[in-house]
Amino acid sequence: MARHLITSALPYINGIKHLGNMVGSMLPADVYARYLRQRGHDVLYICATDEHGTPAELAAKERGLPVAEFCAQAHDAQKAVYDGFHLAFDHFGRSSSEQNAELTQHFARKLNENGFIEERAIRQVYSPADGRFLPDRYVEGTCPHCGYDKARGDQCENCTRVLDPTDLINPRSAISGSTELEIRETKHLFLLQSKLQGEVEAWIDEVADEWPQLSSSIARKWLTEGLNDRAITRDLDWGVPVPADTWPELAADGKVFYVWFDAPIEYIGSTKEWADATGNDWKSWWYEPAGASDVRYTEFMAKDNVPFHSVMFPATEMGVREPWKKVDYLKGFNWLTYYGGKFSTSQKRGVFTDQALEILPADYWRYFLIANAPESDDSSFTWEHFTATVNKDLADTLGNFVNRVLSFSRKRFGDDVPEGGEPGEAEQKLGVEIARLLAEYEEQMEALQFRKAAAALRALWSAGNSYLEEKAPWLEIKTNKEGAALTLRTAMNLIHLYSVVSEPFIPASAAAMRAAFALADDTRTWVTADEAKALTTVPAGTAFTVPPVLFAKITDEDLESYKERFGGEPAAS
Ligand code: MF3
Ligand code: ZN
Repeated sequence: MARHLITSALPYINGIKHLGNMVGSMLPADVYARYLRQRGHDVLYICATDEHGTPAELAAKERGLPVAEFCAQAHDAQKAVYDGFHLAFDHFGRSSSEQNAELTQHFARKLNENGFIEERAIRQVYSPADGRFLPDRYVEGTCPHCGYDKARGDQCENCTRVLDPTDLINPRSAISGSTELEIRETKHLFLLQSKLQGEVEAWIDEVADEWPQLSSSIARKWLTEGLNDRAITRDLDWGVPVPADTWPELAADGKVFYVWFDAPIEYIGSTKEWADATGNDWKSWWYEPAGASDVRYTEFMAKDNVPFHSVMFPATEMGVREPWKKVDYLKGFNWLTYYGGKFSTSQKRGVFTDQALEILPADYWRYFLIANAPESDDSSFTWEHFTATVNKDLADTLGNFVNRVLSFSRKRFGDDVPEGGEPGEAEQKLGVEIARLLAEYEEQMEALQFRKAAAALRALWSAGNSYLEEKAPWLEIKTNKEGAALTLRTAMNLIHLYSVVSEPFIPASAAAMRAAFALADDTRTWVTADEAKALTTVPAGTAFTVPPVLFAKITDEDLESYKERFGGEPAAS
């Protein structure tokens, strides 16, 4: 038994996430966490909303809410969707928590003591009418490249060029519209990452060979380009305040830490929130002398997040000069596309997680998404592919097997698992095959190869179907009642095995399958190779019920209506 710390990139607070966000972070983390828990490991799966920064302020403003209130509501709304997806976090925290503020300030003080923080004066846009410095995206004006008149100071949405606020023609404040903008000098804290380059390189050489190629190549690319010193404070009202004991002048100016500085620290902060709420110990998960050297730490994220987690946050942790736990394995993902185009939050293209749950239960999405996870390459969501996968794998292969076996047995043998004779050659062959596929499934799960693990799970389901077709108990029963009973008992044992091993992918359906059998204290969390071979966990005489249809087929009409509602064509651009 090992201790596993698992985190998935913290979803940003400003809106409900789409399926692409889900498949590249929280969902595979949950599948992995569930699997490891079932295997008897001590698992802590931590996530949180990432709540600071300009986009949160802007989203709150749009809704006419104070930012703290907006974030509280938005956190609850996201949490409700994740509950709906059966994401079994040990804790889903908030980066705006007290715990995170304390840890963030502690990290900054230590970095400063160790010579990794410097105050630098920079020139920035100031708006006297608003009484504040304006972050780049709060300055609007005309794009010097394309003439678009609502370009933002960080980027032009129309021609996508990256801008500096001083590039804009006729700049104005996005808050008040005031055009009386000034350039003023102001001080900010800079993290001297360049000083840590060598250490980060040495660490990457030590750990990253084991990572998926996607993650290690991104880390190496960033290191090759060189770690730059970067500003870690901002002029915003909403954020972790710069501590007055260390930087009285900046604190009096109301500076807060940049969202990307405090967000990764919230992995620790959220663990502390969990510990404070439950009376558990947080330090043994994060602080090496407190026990964290025994912890294996796995992170899940999409590729745009890899630089921050593979290079920048480890640099921060190193500069603190305290033995904080660093990532052991970084699982990065490519993009899930929508018909080959981009899922887009701002343009509302694709399927959002709340809408997905309005249409179909979580297990349908969980299975499809993980079976098609964008691991080695981008993968594409289409309603046609989704429909075909659900109908074939879930409805036909698994669901139909379960319902067919249980209803037929009840009709012919009553409410208990029938006895039948001793296992014959077909059962032995089946057992060997199931044990082989189970080993394959375990191997892929342990390697975090989700598509291959899904393929092995599907093969386990298919093996049951082949066995049933071969034995054909509905014919067998006419000539050999004992034989048919043996076939059904064996098939029911397969259903029980499926209920155990399918749990990481489809937890609700797995629970329904398990509940079909009235086994006295069924505390089994996994299946051994011997049990897989023998297929006798559910003994004859066990009472069972026939669950309602596990997976309804998606009809042509449904398919058309989904395409109509969400659009079934690639993005125009
Ligand atoms: N909120 C970021 C995003 O959505 C991810 C932050 S991960 C963290 O891309 F570690 F920094 F918190
Ligand atoms: Zn432009």
